[in-house]
Amino acid sequence: MLKGQKIAILGLQWGDEGKGKVVSYFAKDYDWIVRFSGGPNAGHTVYYGGKRFIHHLLPSFSKDNSSQKLLIGSGVLIDLEVLKEEVESVSKIISNVKDRLYIDKKANLILEYHKIVDELSERLKGNKAIGTTKRGVGPAQADKINRIGVRIEDLENEKLLLEKLEMNIRMKKELWKDEKMDSLDSKKIMDSLLKTAEFFKDNFKSSIDYRDEILNSSVLFEGTQGLLLDIDFGTYPYVTSTSCSSGGISQGTGLANLKLDKIYGVLKAYTTRVGEGPFPTEDKTERGEKLRKVGGEFGATTGRPRRCGWLDLLLLRYAVRYSGVDSLVLTKADILNGIEKIPVCVAYEIDGKRYEDIDDMGLLLTNKIKPIYEYMDGWKDLKDVNFEKYVRFLEDQLGVSIEVVSTGPETNDVFFRV
Ligand code: IMP
Repeated sequence: MLKGQKIAILGLQWGDEGKGKVVSYFAKDYDWIVRFSGGPNAGHTVYYGGKRFIHHLLPSFSKDNSSQKLLIGSGVLIDLEVLKEEVESVSKIISNVKDRLYIDKKANLILEYHKIVDELSERLKGNKAIGTTKRGVGPAQADKINRIGVRIEDLENEKLLLEKLEMNIRMKKELWKDEKMDSLDSKKIMDSLLKTAEFFKDNFKSSIDYRDEILNSSVLFEGTQGLLLDIDFGTYPYVTSTSCSSGGISQGTGLANLKLDKIYGVLKAYTTRVGEGPFPTEDKTERGEKLRKVGGEFGATTGRPRRCGWLDLLLLRYAVRYSGVDSLVLTKADILNGIEKIPVCVAYEIDGKRYEDIDDMGLLLTNKIKPIYEYMDGWKDLKDVNFEKYVRFLEDQLGVSIEVVSTGPETNDVFFRV
């Protein structure tokens, strides 16, 4: 039935919508699961046989499809150490994961100096810090764009690799004047890199090795972060450094003539954000605190407490528009069970003027926004008629149907509405 079908699953908020779980639910029917963006900043929580895993770089696959192939595309920034740990950990439960893993040789590597730069540049930004995950993602992407990045294919030529590392470390020492940076040694970095790379030597591939097969197979493209963290369309500069929208898929895989059959947008029934940046519906009272506690809203990568607040229809409509989604998946509505009245932001008031739609994220940065809420009747559980009313209200407001509702953290905790 799925022969050749291609779908994408993308986040519509500031990440942490529960994409990993949704991907692992849909995954069993797909020949390939593909990551095209992000890096070790991502933290997708999935359950394999009741055991909880957090994927940072490895696609969130299905444990029930042992021939499924996994691709980490050229748009992903890879920290090989993180990936190795992840593969080793998952392999204890599902033995042949590594045999099915493809890593595009054009992907850029995150190296030790990127993590140092991430830390230093956050510190130097003072009160303009972004609150990054400090995994080196931004600095590695900056090197890629600056054409000084180290790609996996560079590992094939030791002489060239050493020259590239020497150039990078020389430049960074000069620019950053920092003890940690001064202590870096190109040869040592190269040796440790080559040692880790040895583990993956059969996994590094050129797109020619998989391109035709992927185009003729069923594929699930797994988004990272969420549209509001997209480098171009998110709440810039409080964003990540790669493309979280559907536009990132061709760019991050080299599959230029790709036609997607369906794009699913994942939204959580309330909103969270980690790190700095505007968040009009943030609730800093004990109600927000309760959402954090009941929803377990702590960063999957950094453990930081997530900022919590209510659903924002203006931001969601914006995200639906810029992701081109065809269908929605609603997650974590069960966290709201038992709340008497549920606030949903239907408009912003800025300088006394009411906005019911926005297309300029800059407005969020430069203005004091007063969110205007509509209060929906709460529900006991997800079978309650009030929950169905809430879902219909969202569908009506967003102009897209909510096809799937996630009812809990385990892979199969879902029901289909349409
Ligand atoms: P970076 O991607 O580590 O550079 O962080 C930039 C911003 O994106 C920070 O606000 C991070 O908290 C946020 N961020 C990055 N990855 C994720 C994620 O997977 N979930 C939620 N927020 C993220």
